Amino acid sequence: MKITVFSGSHKGREGNTLIMVEEFLKGAEEAGAVTENIILAEKDIRYCKGKFKCWLTTPGICTIRDDMDDLLPRFLNSDIVVFACPVYFDNVPAAMKNFIDRLAPVLLPHFEEDKKGEYRHAKRYEKYPKIVVISNAGLPGQMSFEVESLFFRRLARDFHTELIAEIYRGEGEIFRGQNNFMLKPLLGRYKKLLRCAGKEIVENQKLSEKTIKELEKPIVPPSLYIKFGNEELDRMFEEGRID
Ligand SMILES: Cc1cc2nc3c(=O)[nH]c(=O)nc-3n(C[C@H](O)[C@H](O)[C@H](O)COP(=O)(O)O)c2cc1C
Repeated sequence: MKITVFSGSHKGREGNTLIMVEEFLKGAEEAGAVTENIILAEKDIRYCKGKFKCWLTTPGICTIRDDMDDLLPRFLNSDIVVFACPVYFDNVPAAMKNFIDRLAPVLLPHFEEDKKGEYRHAKRYEKYPKIVVISNAGLPGQMSFEVESLFFRRLARDFHTELIAEIYRGEGEIFRGQNNFMLKPLLGRYKKLLRCAGKEIVENQKLSEKTIKELEKPIVPPSLYIKFGNEELDRMFEEGRID
């Protein structure tokens, strides 16, 4: 099984989301998957020009020559793709949306009605990869992911495939405290759950109810996260620290 992650944090390899991805992939690899993590911030991906040339002039091929030439086949040749990104103002970051827009060539231009009576573009290929979402938000709680969750459900429908798992981590800045002696065991427990999720996805193509429930639990109570988070922000501001 081939799992390809498209990581959309603008911080590239330094992000909190990447920590989640790495643990998930460890579990997936242990269960036998071949994995790849593509950092979108390191790639040259220009905006879709919106002229439908990939549908009408050069069917299935975008007319822009950049890193999407390499990434599009990697998307299509995966059994599962993971869209991994932080939340930026209740939505996906620009790098992720930009990448997704450039996936337009994988569809046909023709309109069709789906089984639910909704409309979409027809398939160009027989099979599309299943989708997993991993996302991280700085605020506590699950509401920061409301828009992303709807977006990725709609996207799976647009791409004639299934959204098989959504892993959302509020209070996501907690990963900055990885070396804090009090947080270390709590983060260790959460990372173990992520490895378990990676394994379950390879073995069952879904997460167990137990894993979903455990992954959604706050790592620390929101009141503590806010208190210590704000104190840390004040310290960073005073020291001019931005690490
Ligand atoms: C422009 C911008 C907008 C953000 N908007 C939100 C938001 O709406 N809700 C939220 O919980 N966090 C928001 N955040 C915080 C990030 O989601 C958070 O810092 C996350 O841990 C970053 O993940 P990363 O390290 O993988 O990039 C925002 C961050 C940036 C830079």
